[in-house]
Amino acid sequence: MNDALATFLQECRRRVASHLEVGPAYPNALEDICAFALGDTGKRIRPVLAITAAAAVSDNAASVSQPAAALELIHTYSLIHDDLPAMDDDDMRRGRPSLHKAFDEATAILVGDGLQARAFELIADAPDLSAEQKVRMIKVLAEASGFAGMVGGQYIDIQATNSDMSLEDLKAMHEMKTGALIRASLALGGIAANASEEQLAALDSYGRHIGLAFQVVDDILDVEGDSATLGKTAGKDHEANKPTYVRLLGLEGAKAEARNLLEQALAALEGFGDSADHLRELARYIVERDR
Ligand code: IPE
Ligand code: IPE
Ligand code: MG
Ligand code: MG
Ligand code: MG
Repeated sequence: MNDALATFLQECRRRVASHLEVGPAYPNALEDICAFALGDTGKRIRPVLAITAAAAVSDNAASVSQPAAALELIHTYSLIHDDLPAMDDDDMRRGRPSLHKAFDEATAILVGDGLQARAFELIADAPDLSAEQKVRMIKVLAEASGFAGMVGGQYIDIQATNSDMSLEDLKAMHEMKTGALIRASLALGGIAANASEEQLAALDSYGRHIGLAFQVVDDILDVEGDSATLGKTAGKDHEANKPTYVRLLGLEGAKAEARNLLEQALAALEGFGDSADHLRELARYIVERDR
């Protein structure tokens, strides 16, 4: 990653940090646990994408910070539940014990549930957004995180463990479990910046391709990455016999697919000028990352 992109990412993370701080909205007994869950060792790529999408459309989109934080809350909830013994049974997350290991399973389930609810509260409370913008965001985020999106994809993932899957079904699963929330990140940024329908469609196409690429690369990193860099246990997909792009296409095939998706994501931004350069750099980062 070049220095300019690293600085830009830091700035985006700084903009959402205060909205991810655990305050009066969290009960005393859960404050420290939620602070642990939301600790700043995650990449924060979804809020970064939302802020970057807003900036591609308008240089006056300050109102995106709270919706951006909402995306991170939904994502963090999905990781906490994904790590539970009933799902992927992972002991490590973001370089630390996963939540059910650091505390217990009931706590992990409840913290995930609470973060999900808090996400929608953050959007409803966001300053400088019209009621129409907020309702539109809430609908987009609910669809992306619910049965038609993340939850639906996670269900397919769990059901498909230990069985074979066609490439078509695998793509649909990845688009739901991971792609949908990334796609929603672009949409929330666009809505915050009052993007035209044409701009929203371009952001959506970018989001669809980069969202799928994100999970393809996650599958690759499970094979090629090391646990210390990833902050989570490498090699778990193979061990658990998960349906992944690497299993279906092999490492080189999965990498070729990620590059292909990157090109399609970049093509979707053709109508944007320099204002979308950070989105272009983020797309490359998503495909080239090592964690
Ligand atoms: C991991 O997401 C789970 C997937 C959806 C692939 P990230 O790679 O964004 O995880 P963090 O937030 O940086 O820990
Ligand atoms: C998880 O996919 C996607 C989610 C919706 C959380 P994975 O199970 O591959 O994510 P990691 O590898 O545990 O982060
Ligand atoms: Mg999983
Ligand atoms: Mg997992
Ligand atoms: Mg994975």
